[in-house]
Amino acid sequence: MLTSDAHPQLRIDIVSIFPDYLAPLELSLVGKARETGQIDVRIHDLRNCTQDRHRTVDDTPYGGGPGMVMLPEPWGDALDAILDSDPSRTPVLVVPTPSGERFTQAHAAQWALGDWLIFACGRYEGIDSRVMEHFRDRVQVVEVSLGDYVLAGGEVAALAVTEAVVRLLPGVLGNSESVVDDSFAPGRMADLVEGPVYTKPPLWRGLEVPEVLLSGHHGRIEAWRLEQAHERTRTRRPDLRGESPSGDVAD
Ligand code: 6GU
Repeated sequence: MLTSDAHPQLRIDIVSIFPDYLAPLELSLVGKARETGQIDVRIHDLRNCTQDRHRTVDDTPYGGGPGMVMLPEPWGDALDAILDSDPSRTPVLVVPTPSGERFTQAHAAQWALGDWLIFACGRYEGIDSRVMEHFRDRVQVVEVSLGDYVLAGGEVAALAVTEAVVRLLPGVLGNSESVVDDSFAPGRMADLVEGPVYTKPPLWRGLEVPEVLLSGHHGRIEAWRLEQAHERTRTRRPDLRGESPSGDVAD
């Protein structure tokens, strides 16, 4: 099937030692986008790029310390093969790591305009830093973190980033307005989270839907929603208002 006018097909390559972890990409919105040919997702097992009998992907860190570090050779070979497979595209190499820059809707919006994302999913204490250093000379490399907590590997982040990007591609969401009203959409609601939403029935377990939403007064409804969004942002996300979570004003 054809992609939307003036928008190239997005190719997404994901390298991992747990390729089965990426199975959810066959489901739901991303799975549908693959079926229609809007995206081309390829999952790669890093162990296929090892040379030794034990298919080793890690070793102890130079300088000592806990855990293991992923070897540069399998990563170099895996990424070489992927990059060489299509010299006509402009890839961004995304490396999920808790030490990366915070992944935001702005990254998603930018990457939805591009034509190729390659995810290098590390495990253990991370990938030998020379891998990122080497590929920076060949492609754009962006190390991203989902937030301030530690996961066991980059696979969950690759799933999250892929879904955030793919849902922005034209024609992927049924209703294009649902993108514009997003909590973090660039532009209109960049600094507000969405307020509460309701559907039928109007009375459930003694709880009523706010009367204004049943009023049919679109002006009053929009004003109420904006007020709710501000209240929620104030109480839950003071950081979006340039304040620390304690309520102090940030520097
Ligand atoms: Cl991208 N990777 C890992 N391992 N942990 C994380 C993360 C990424 N983002 C938040 N925690």
